[in-house]
Amino acid sequence: MTRYRILLITGNVHKKREVEIILSDYESMFEVEMEPNIRKVEVQADDIYDIARQAMLDISRIVKPRKDTYLVLEDDGLYIEALGGFPGPYSEYVYRTLGLEGILKIMSGIENRSAVFRAALGVLTPSGKVEVVQGSCRGRIADSKRGKGGFGYDPIFVPLGYDITFAEMGIEEKCKISHRARAFRTLADLIVSGVLK
Ligand code: IMP
Repeated sequence: MTRYRILLITGNVHKKREVEIILSDYESMFEVEMEPNIRKVEVQADDIYDIARQAMLDISRIVKPRKDTYLVLEDDGLYIEALGGFPGPYSEYVYRTLGLEGILKIMSGIENRSAVFRAALGVLTPSGKVEVVQGSCRGRIADSKRGKGGFGYDPIFVPLGYDITFAEMGIEEKCKISHRARAFRTLADLIVSGVLK
């Protein structure tokens, strides 16, 4: 059985742990490692698809593809409907500046709390091709921060069909339904089926 290596360009241990759990459904076909030495340059674009694609195209100019290894960078965004998709591609910046309290303040009195969490994976394949794979999870913005688990926006994001936030559910449950789970399962299916070589 071929064993594939997923090399994540990230220093975020939460992301790595979640990707390990998501890919554990594929019976040891995937080995997940972090590659903290390659820097992902954040290009300015309105869409996380374009950001992930451009960032991986830049990396592909300096990194050699390797057999059975998929180099993956992830760009995520929380798109709040009532705010026209804000913070979207600026989610990391807004998290650091306004923070969760700031988002809750902006959302106070707003009835439509619908939001979508999106993940775009920029992938460098073993044959040197650059592809983007996406996943999303619909939900709503909670009225207040709830829960201790996860990271980032987890305490204020309630996925569709649930009354608890990502931070209140266990990591296993989050990894069944999250934007990251959907993106990485699509990627894994494309790899295992031989479509993405
Ligand atoms: P990045 O593009 O992966 O850096 O993500 C953009 C922002 O979304 C960062 O502030 C992350 O902390 C946050 N984020 C990414 N994924 C998740 C998640 O699964 N839950 C909560 N916040 C997330």
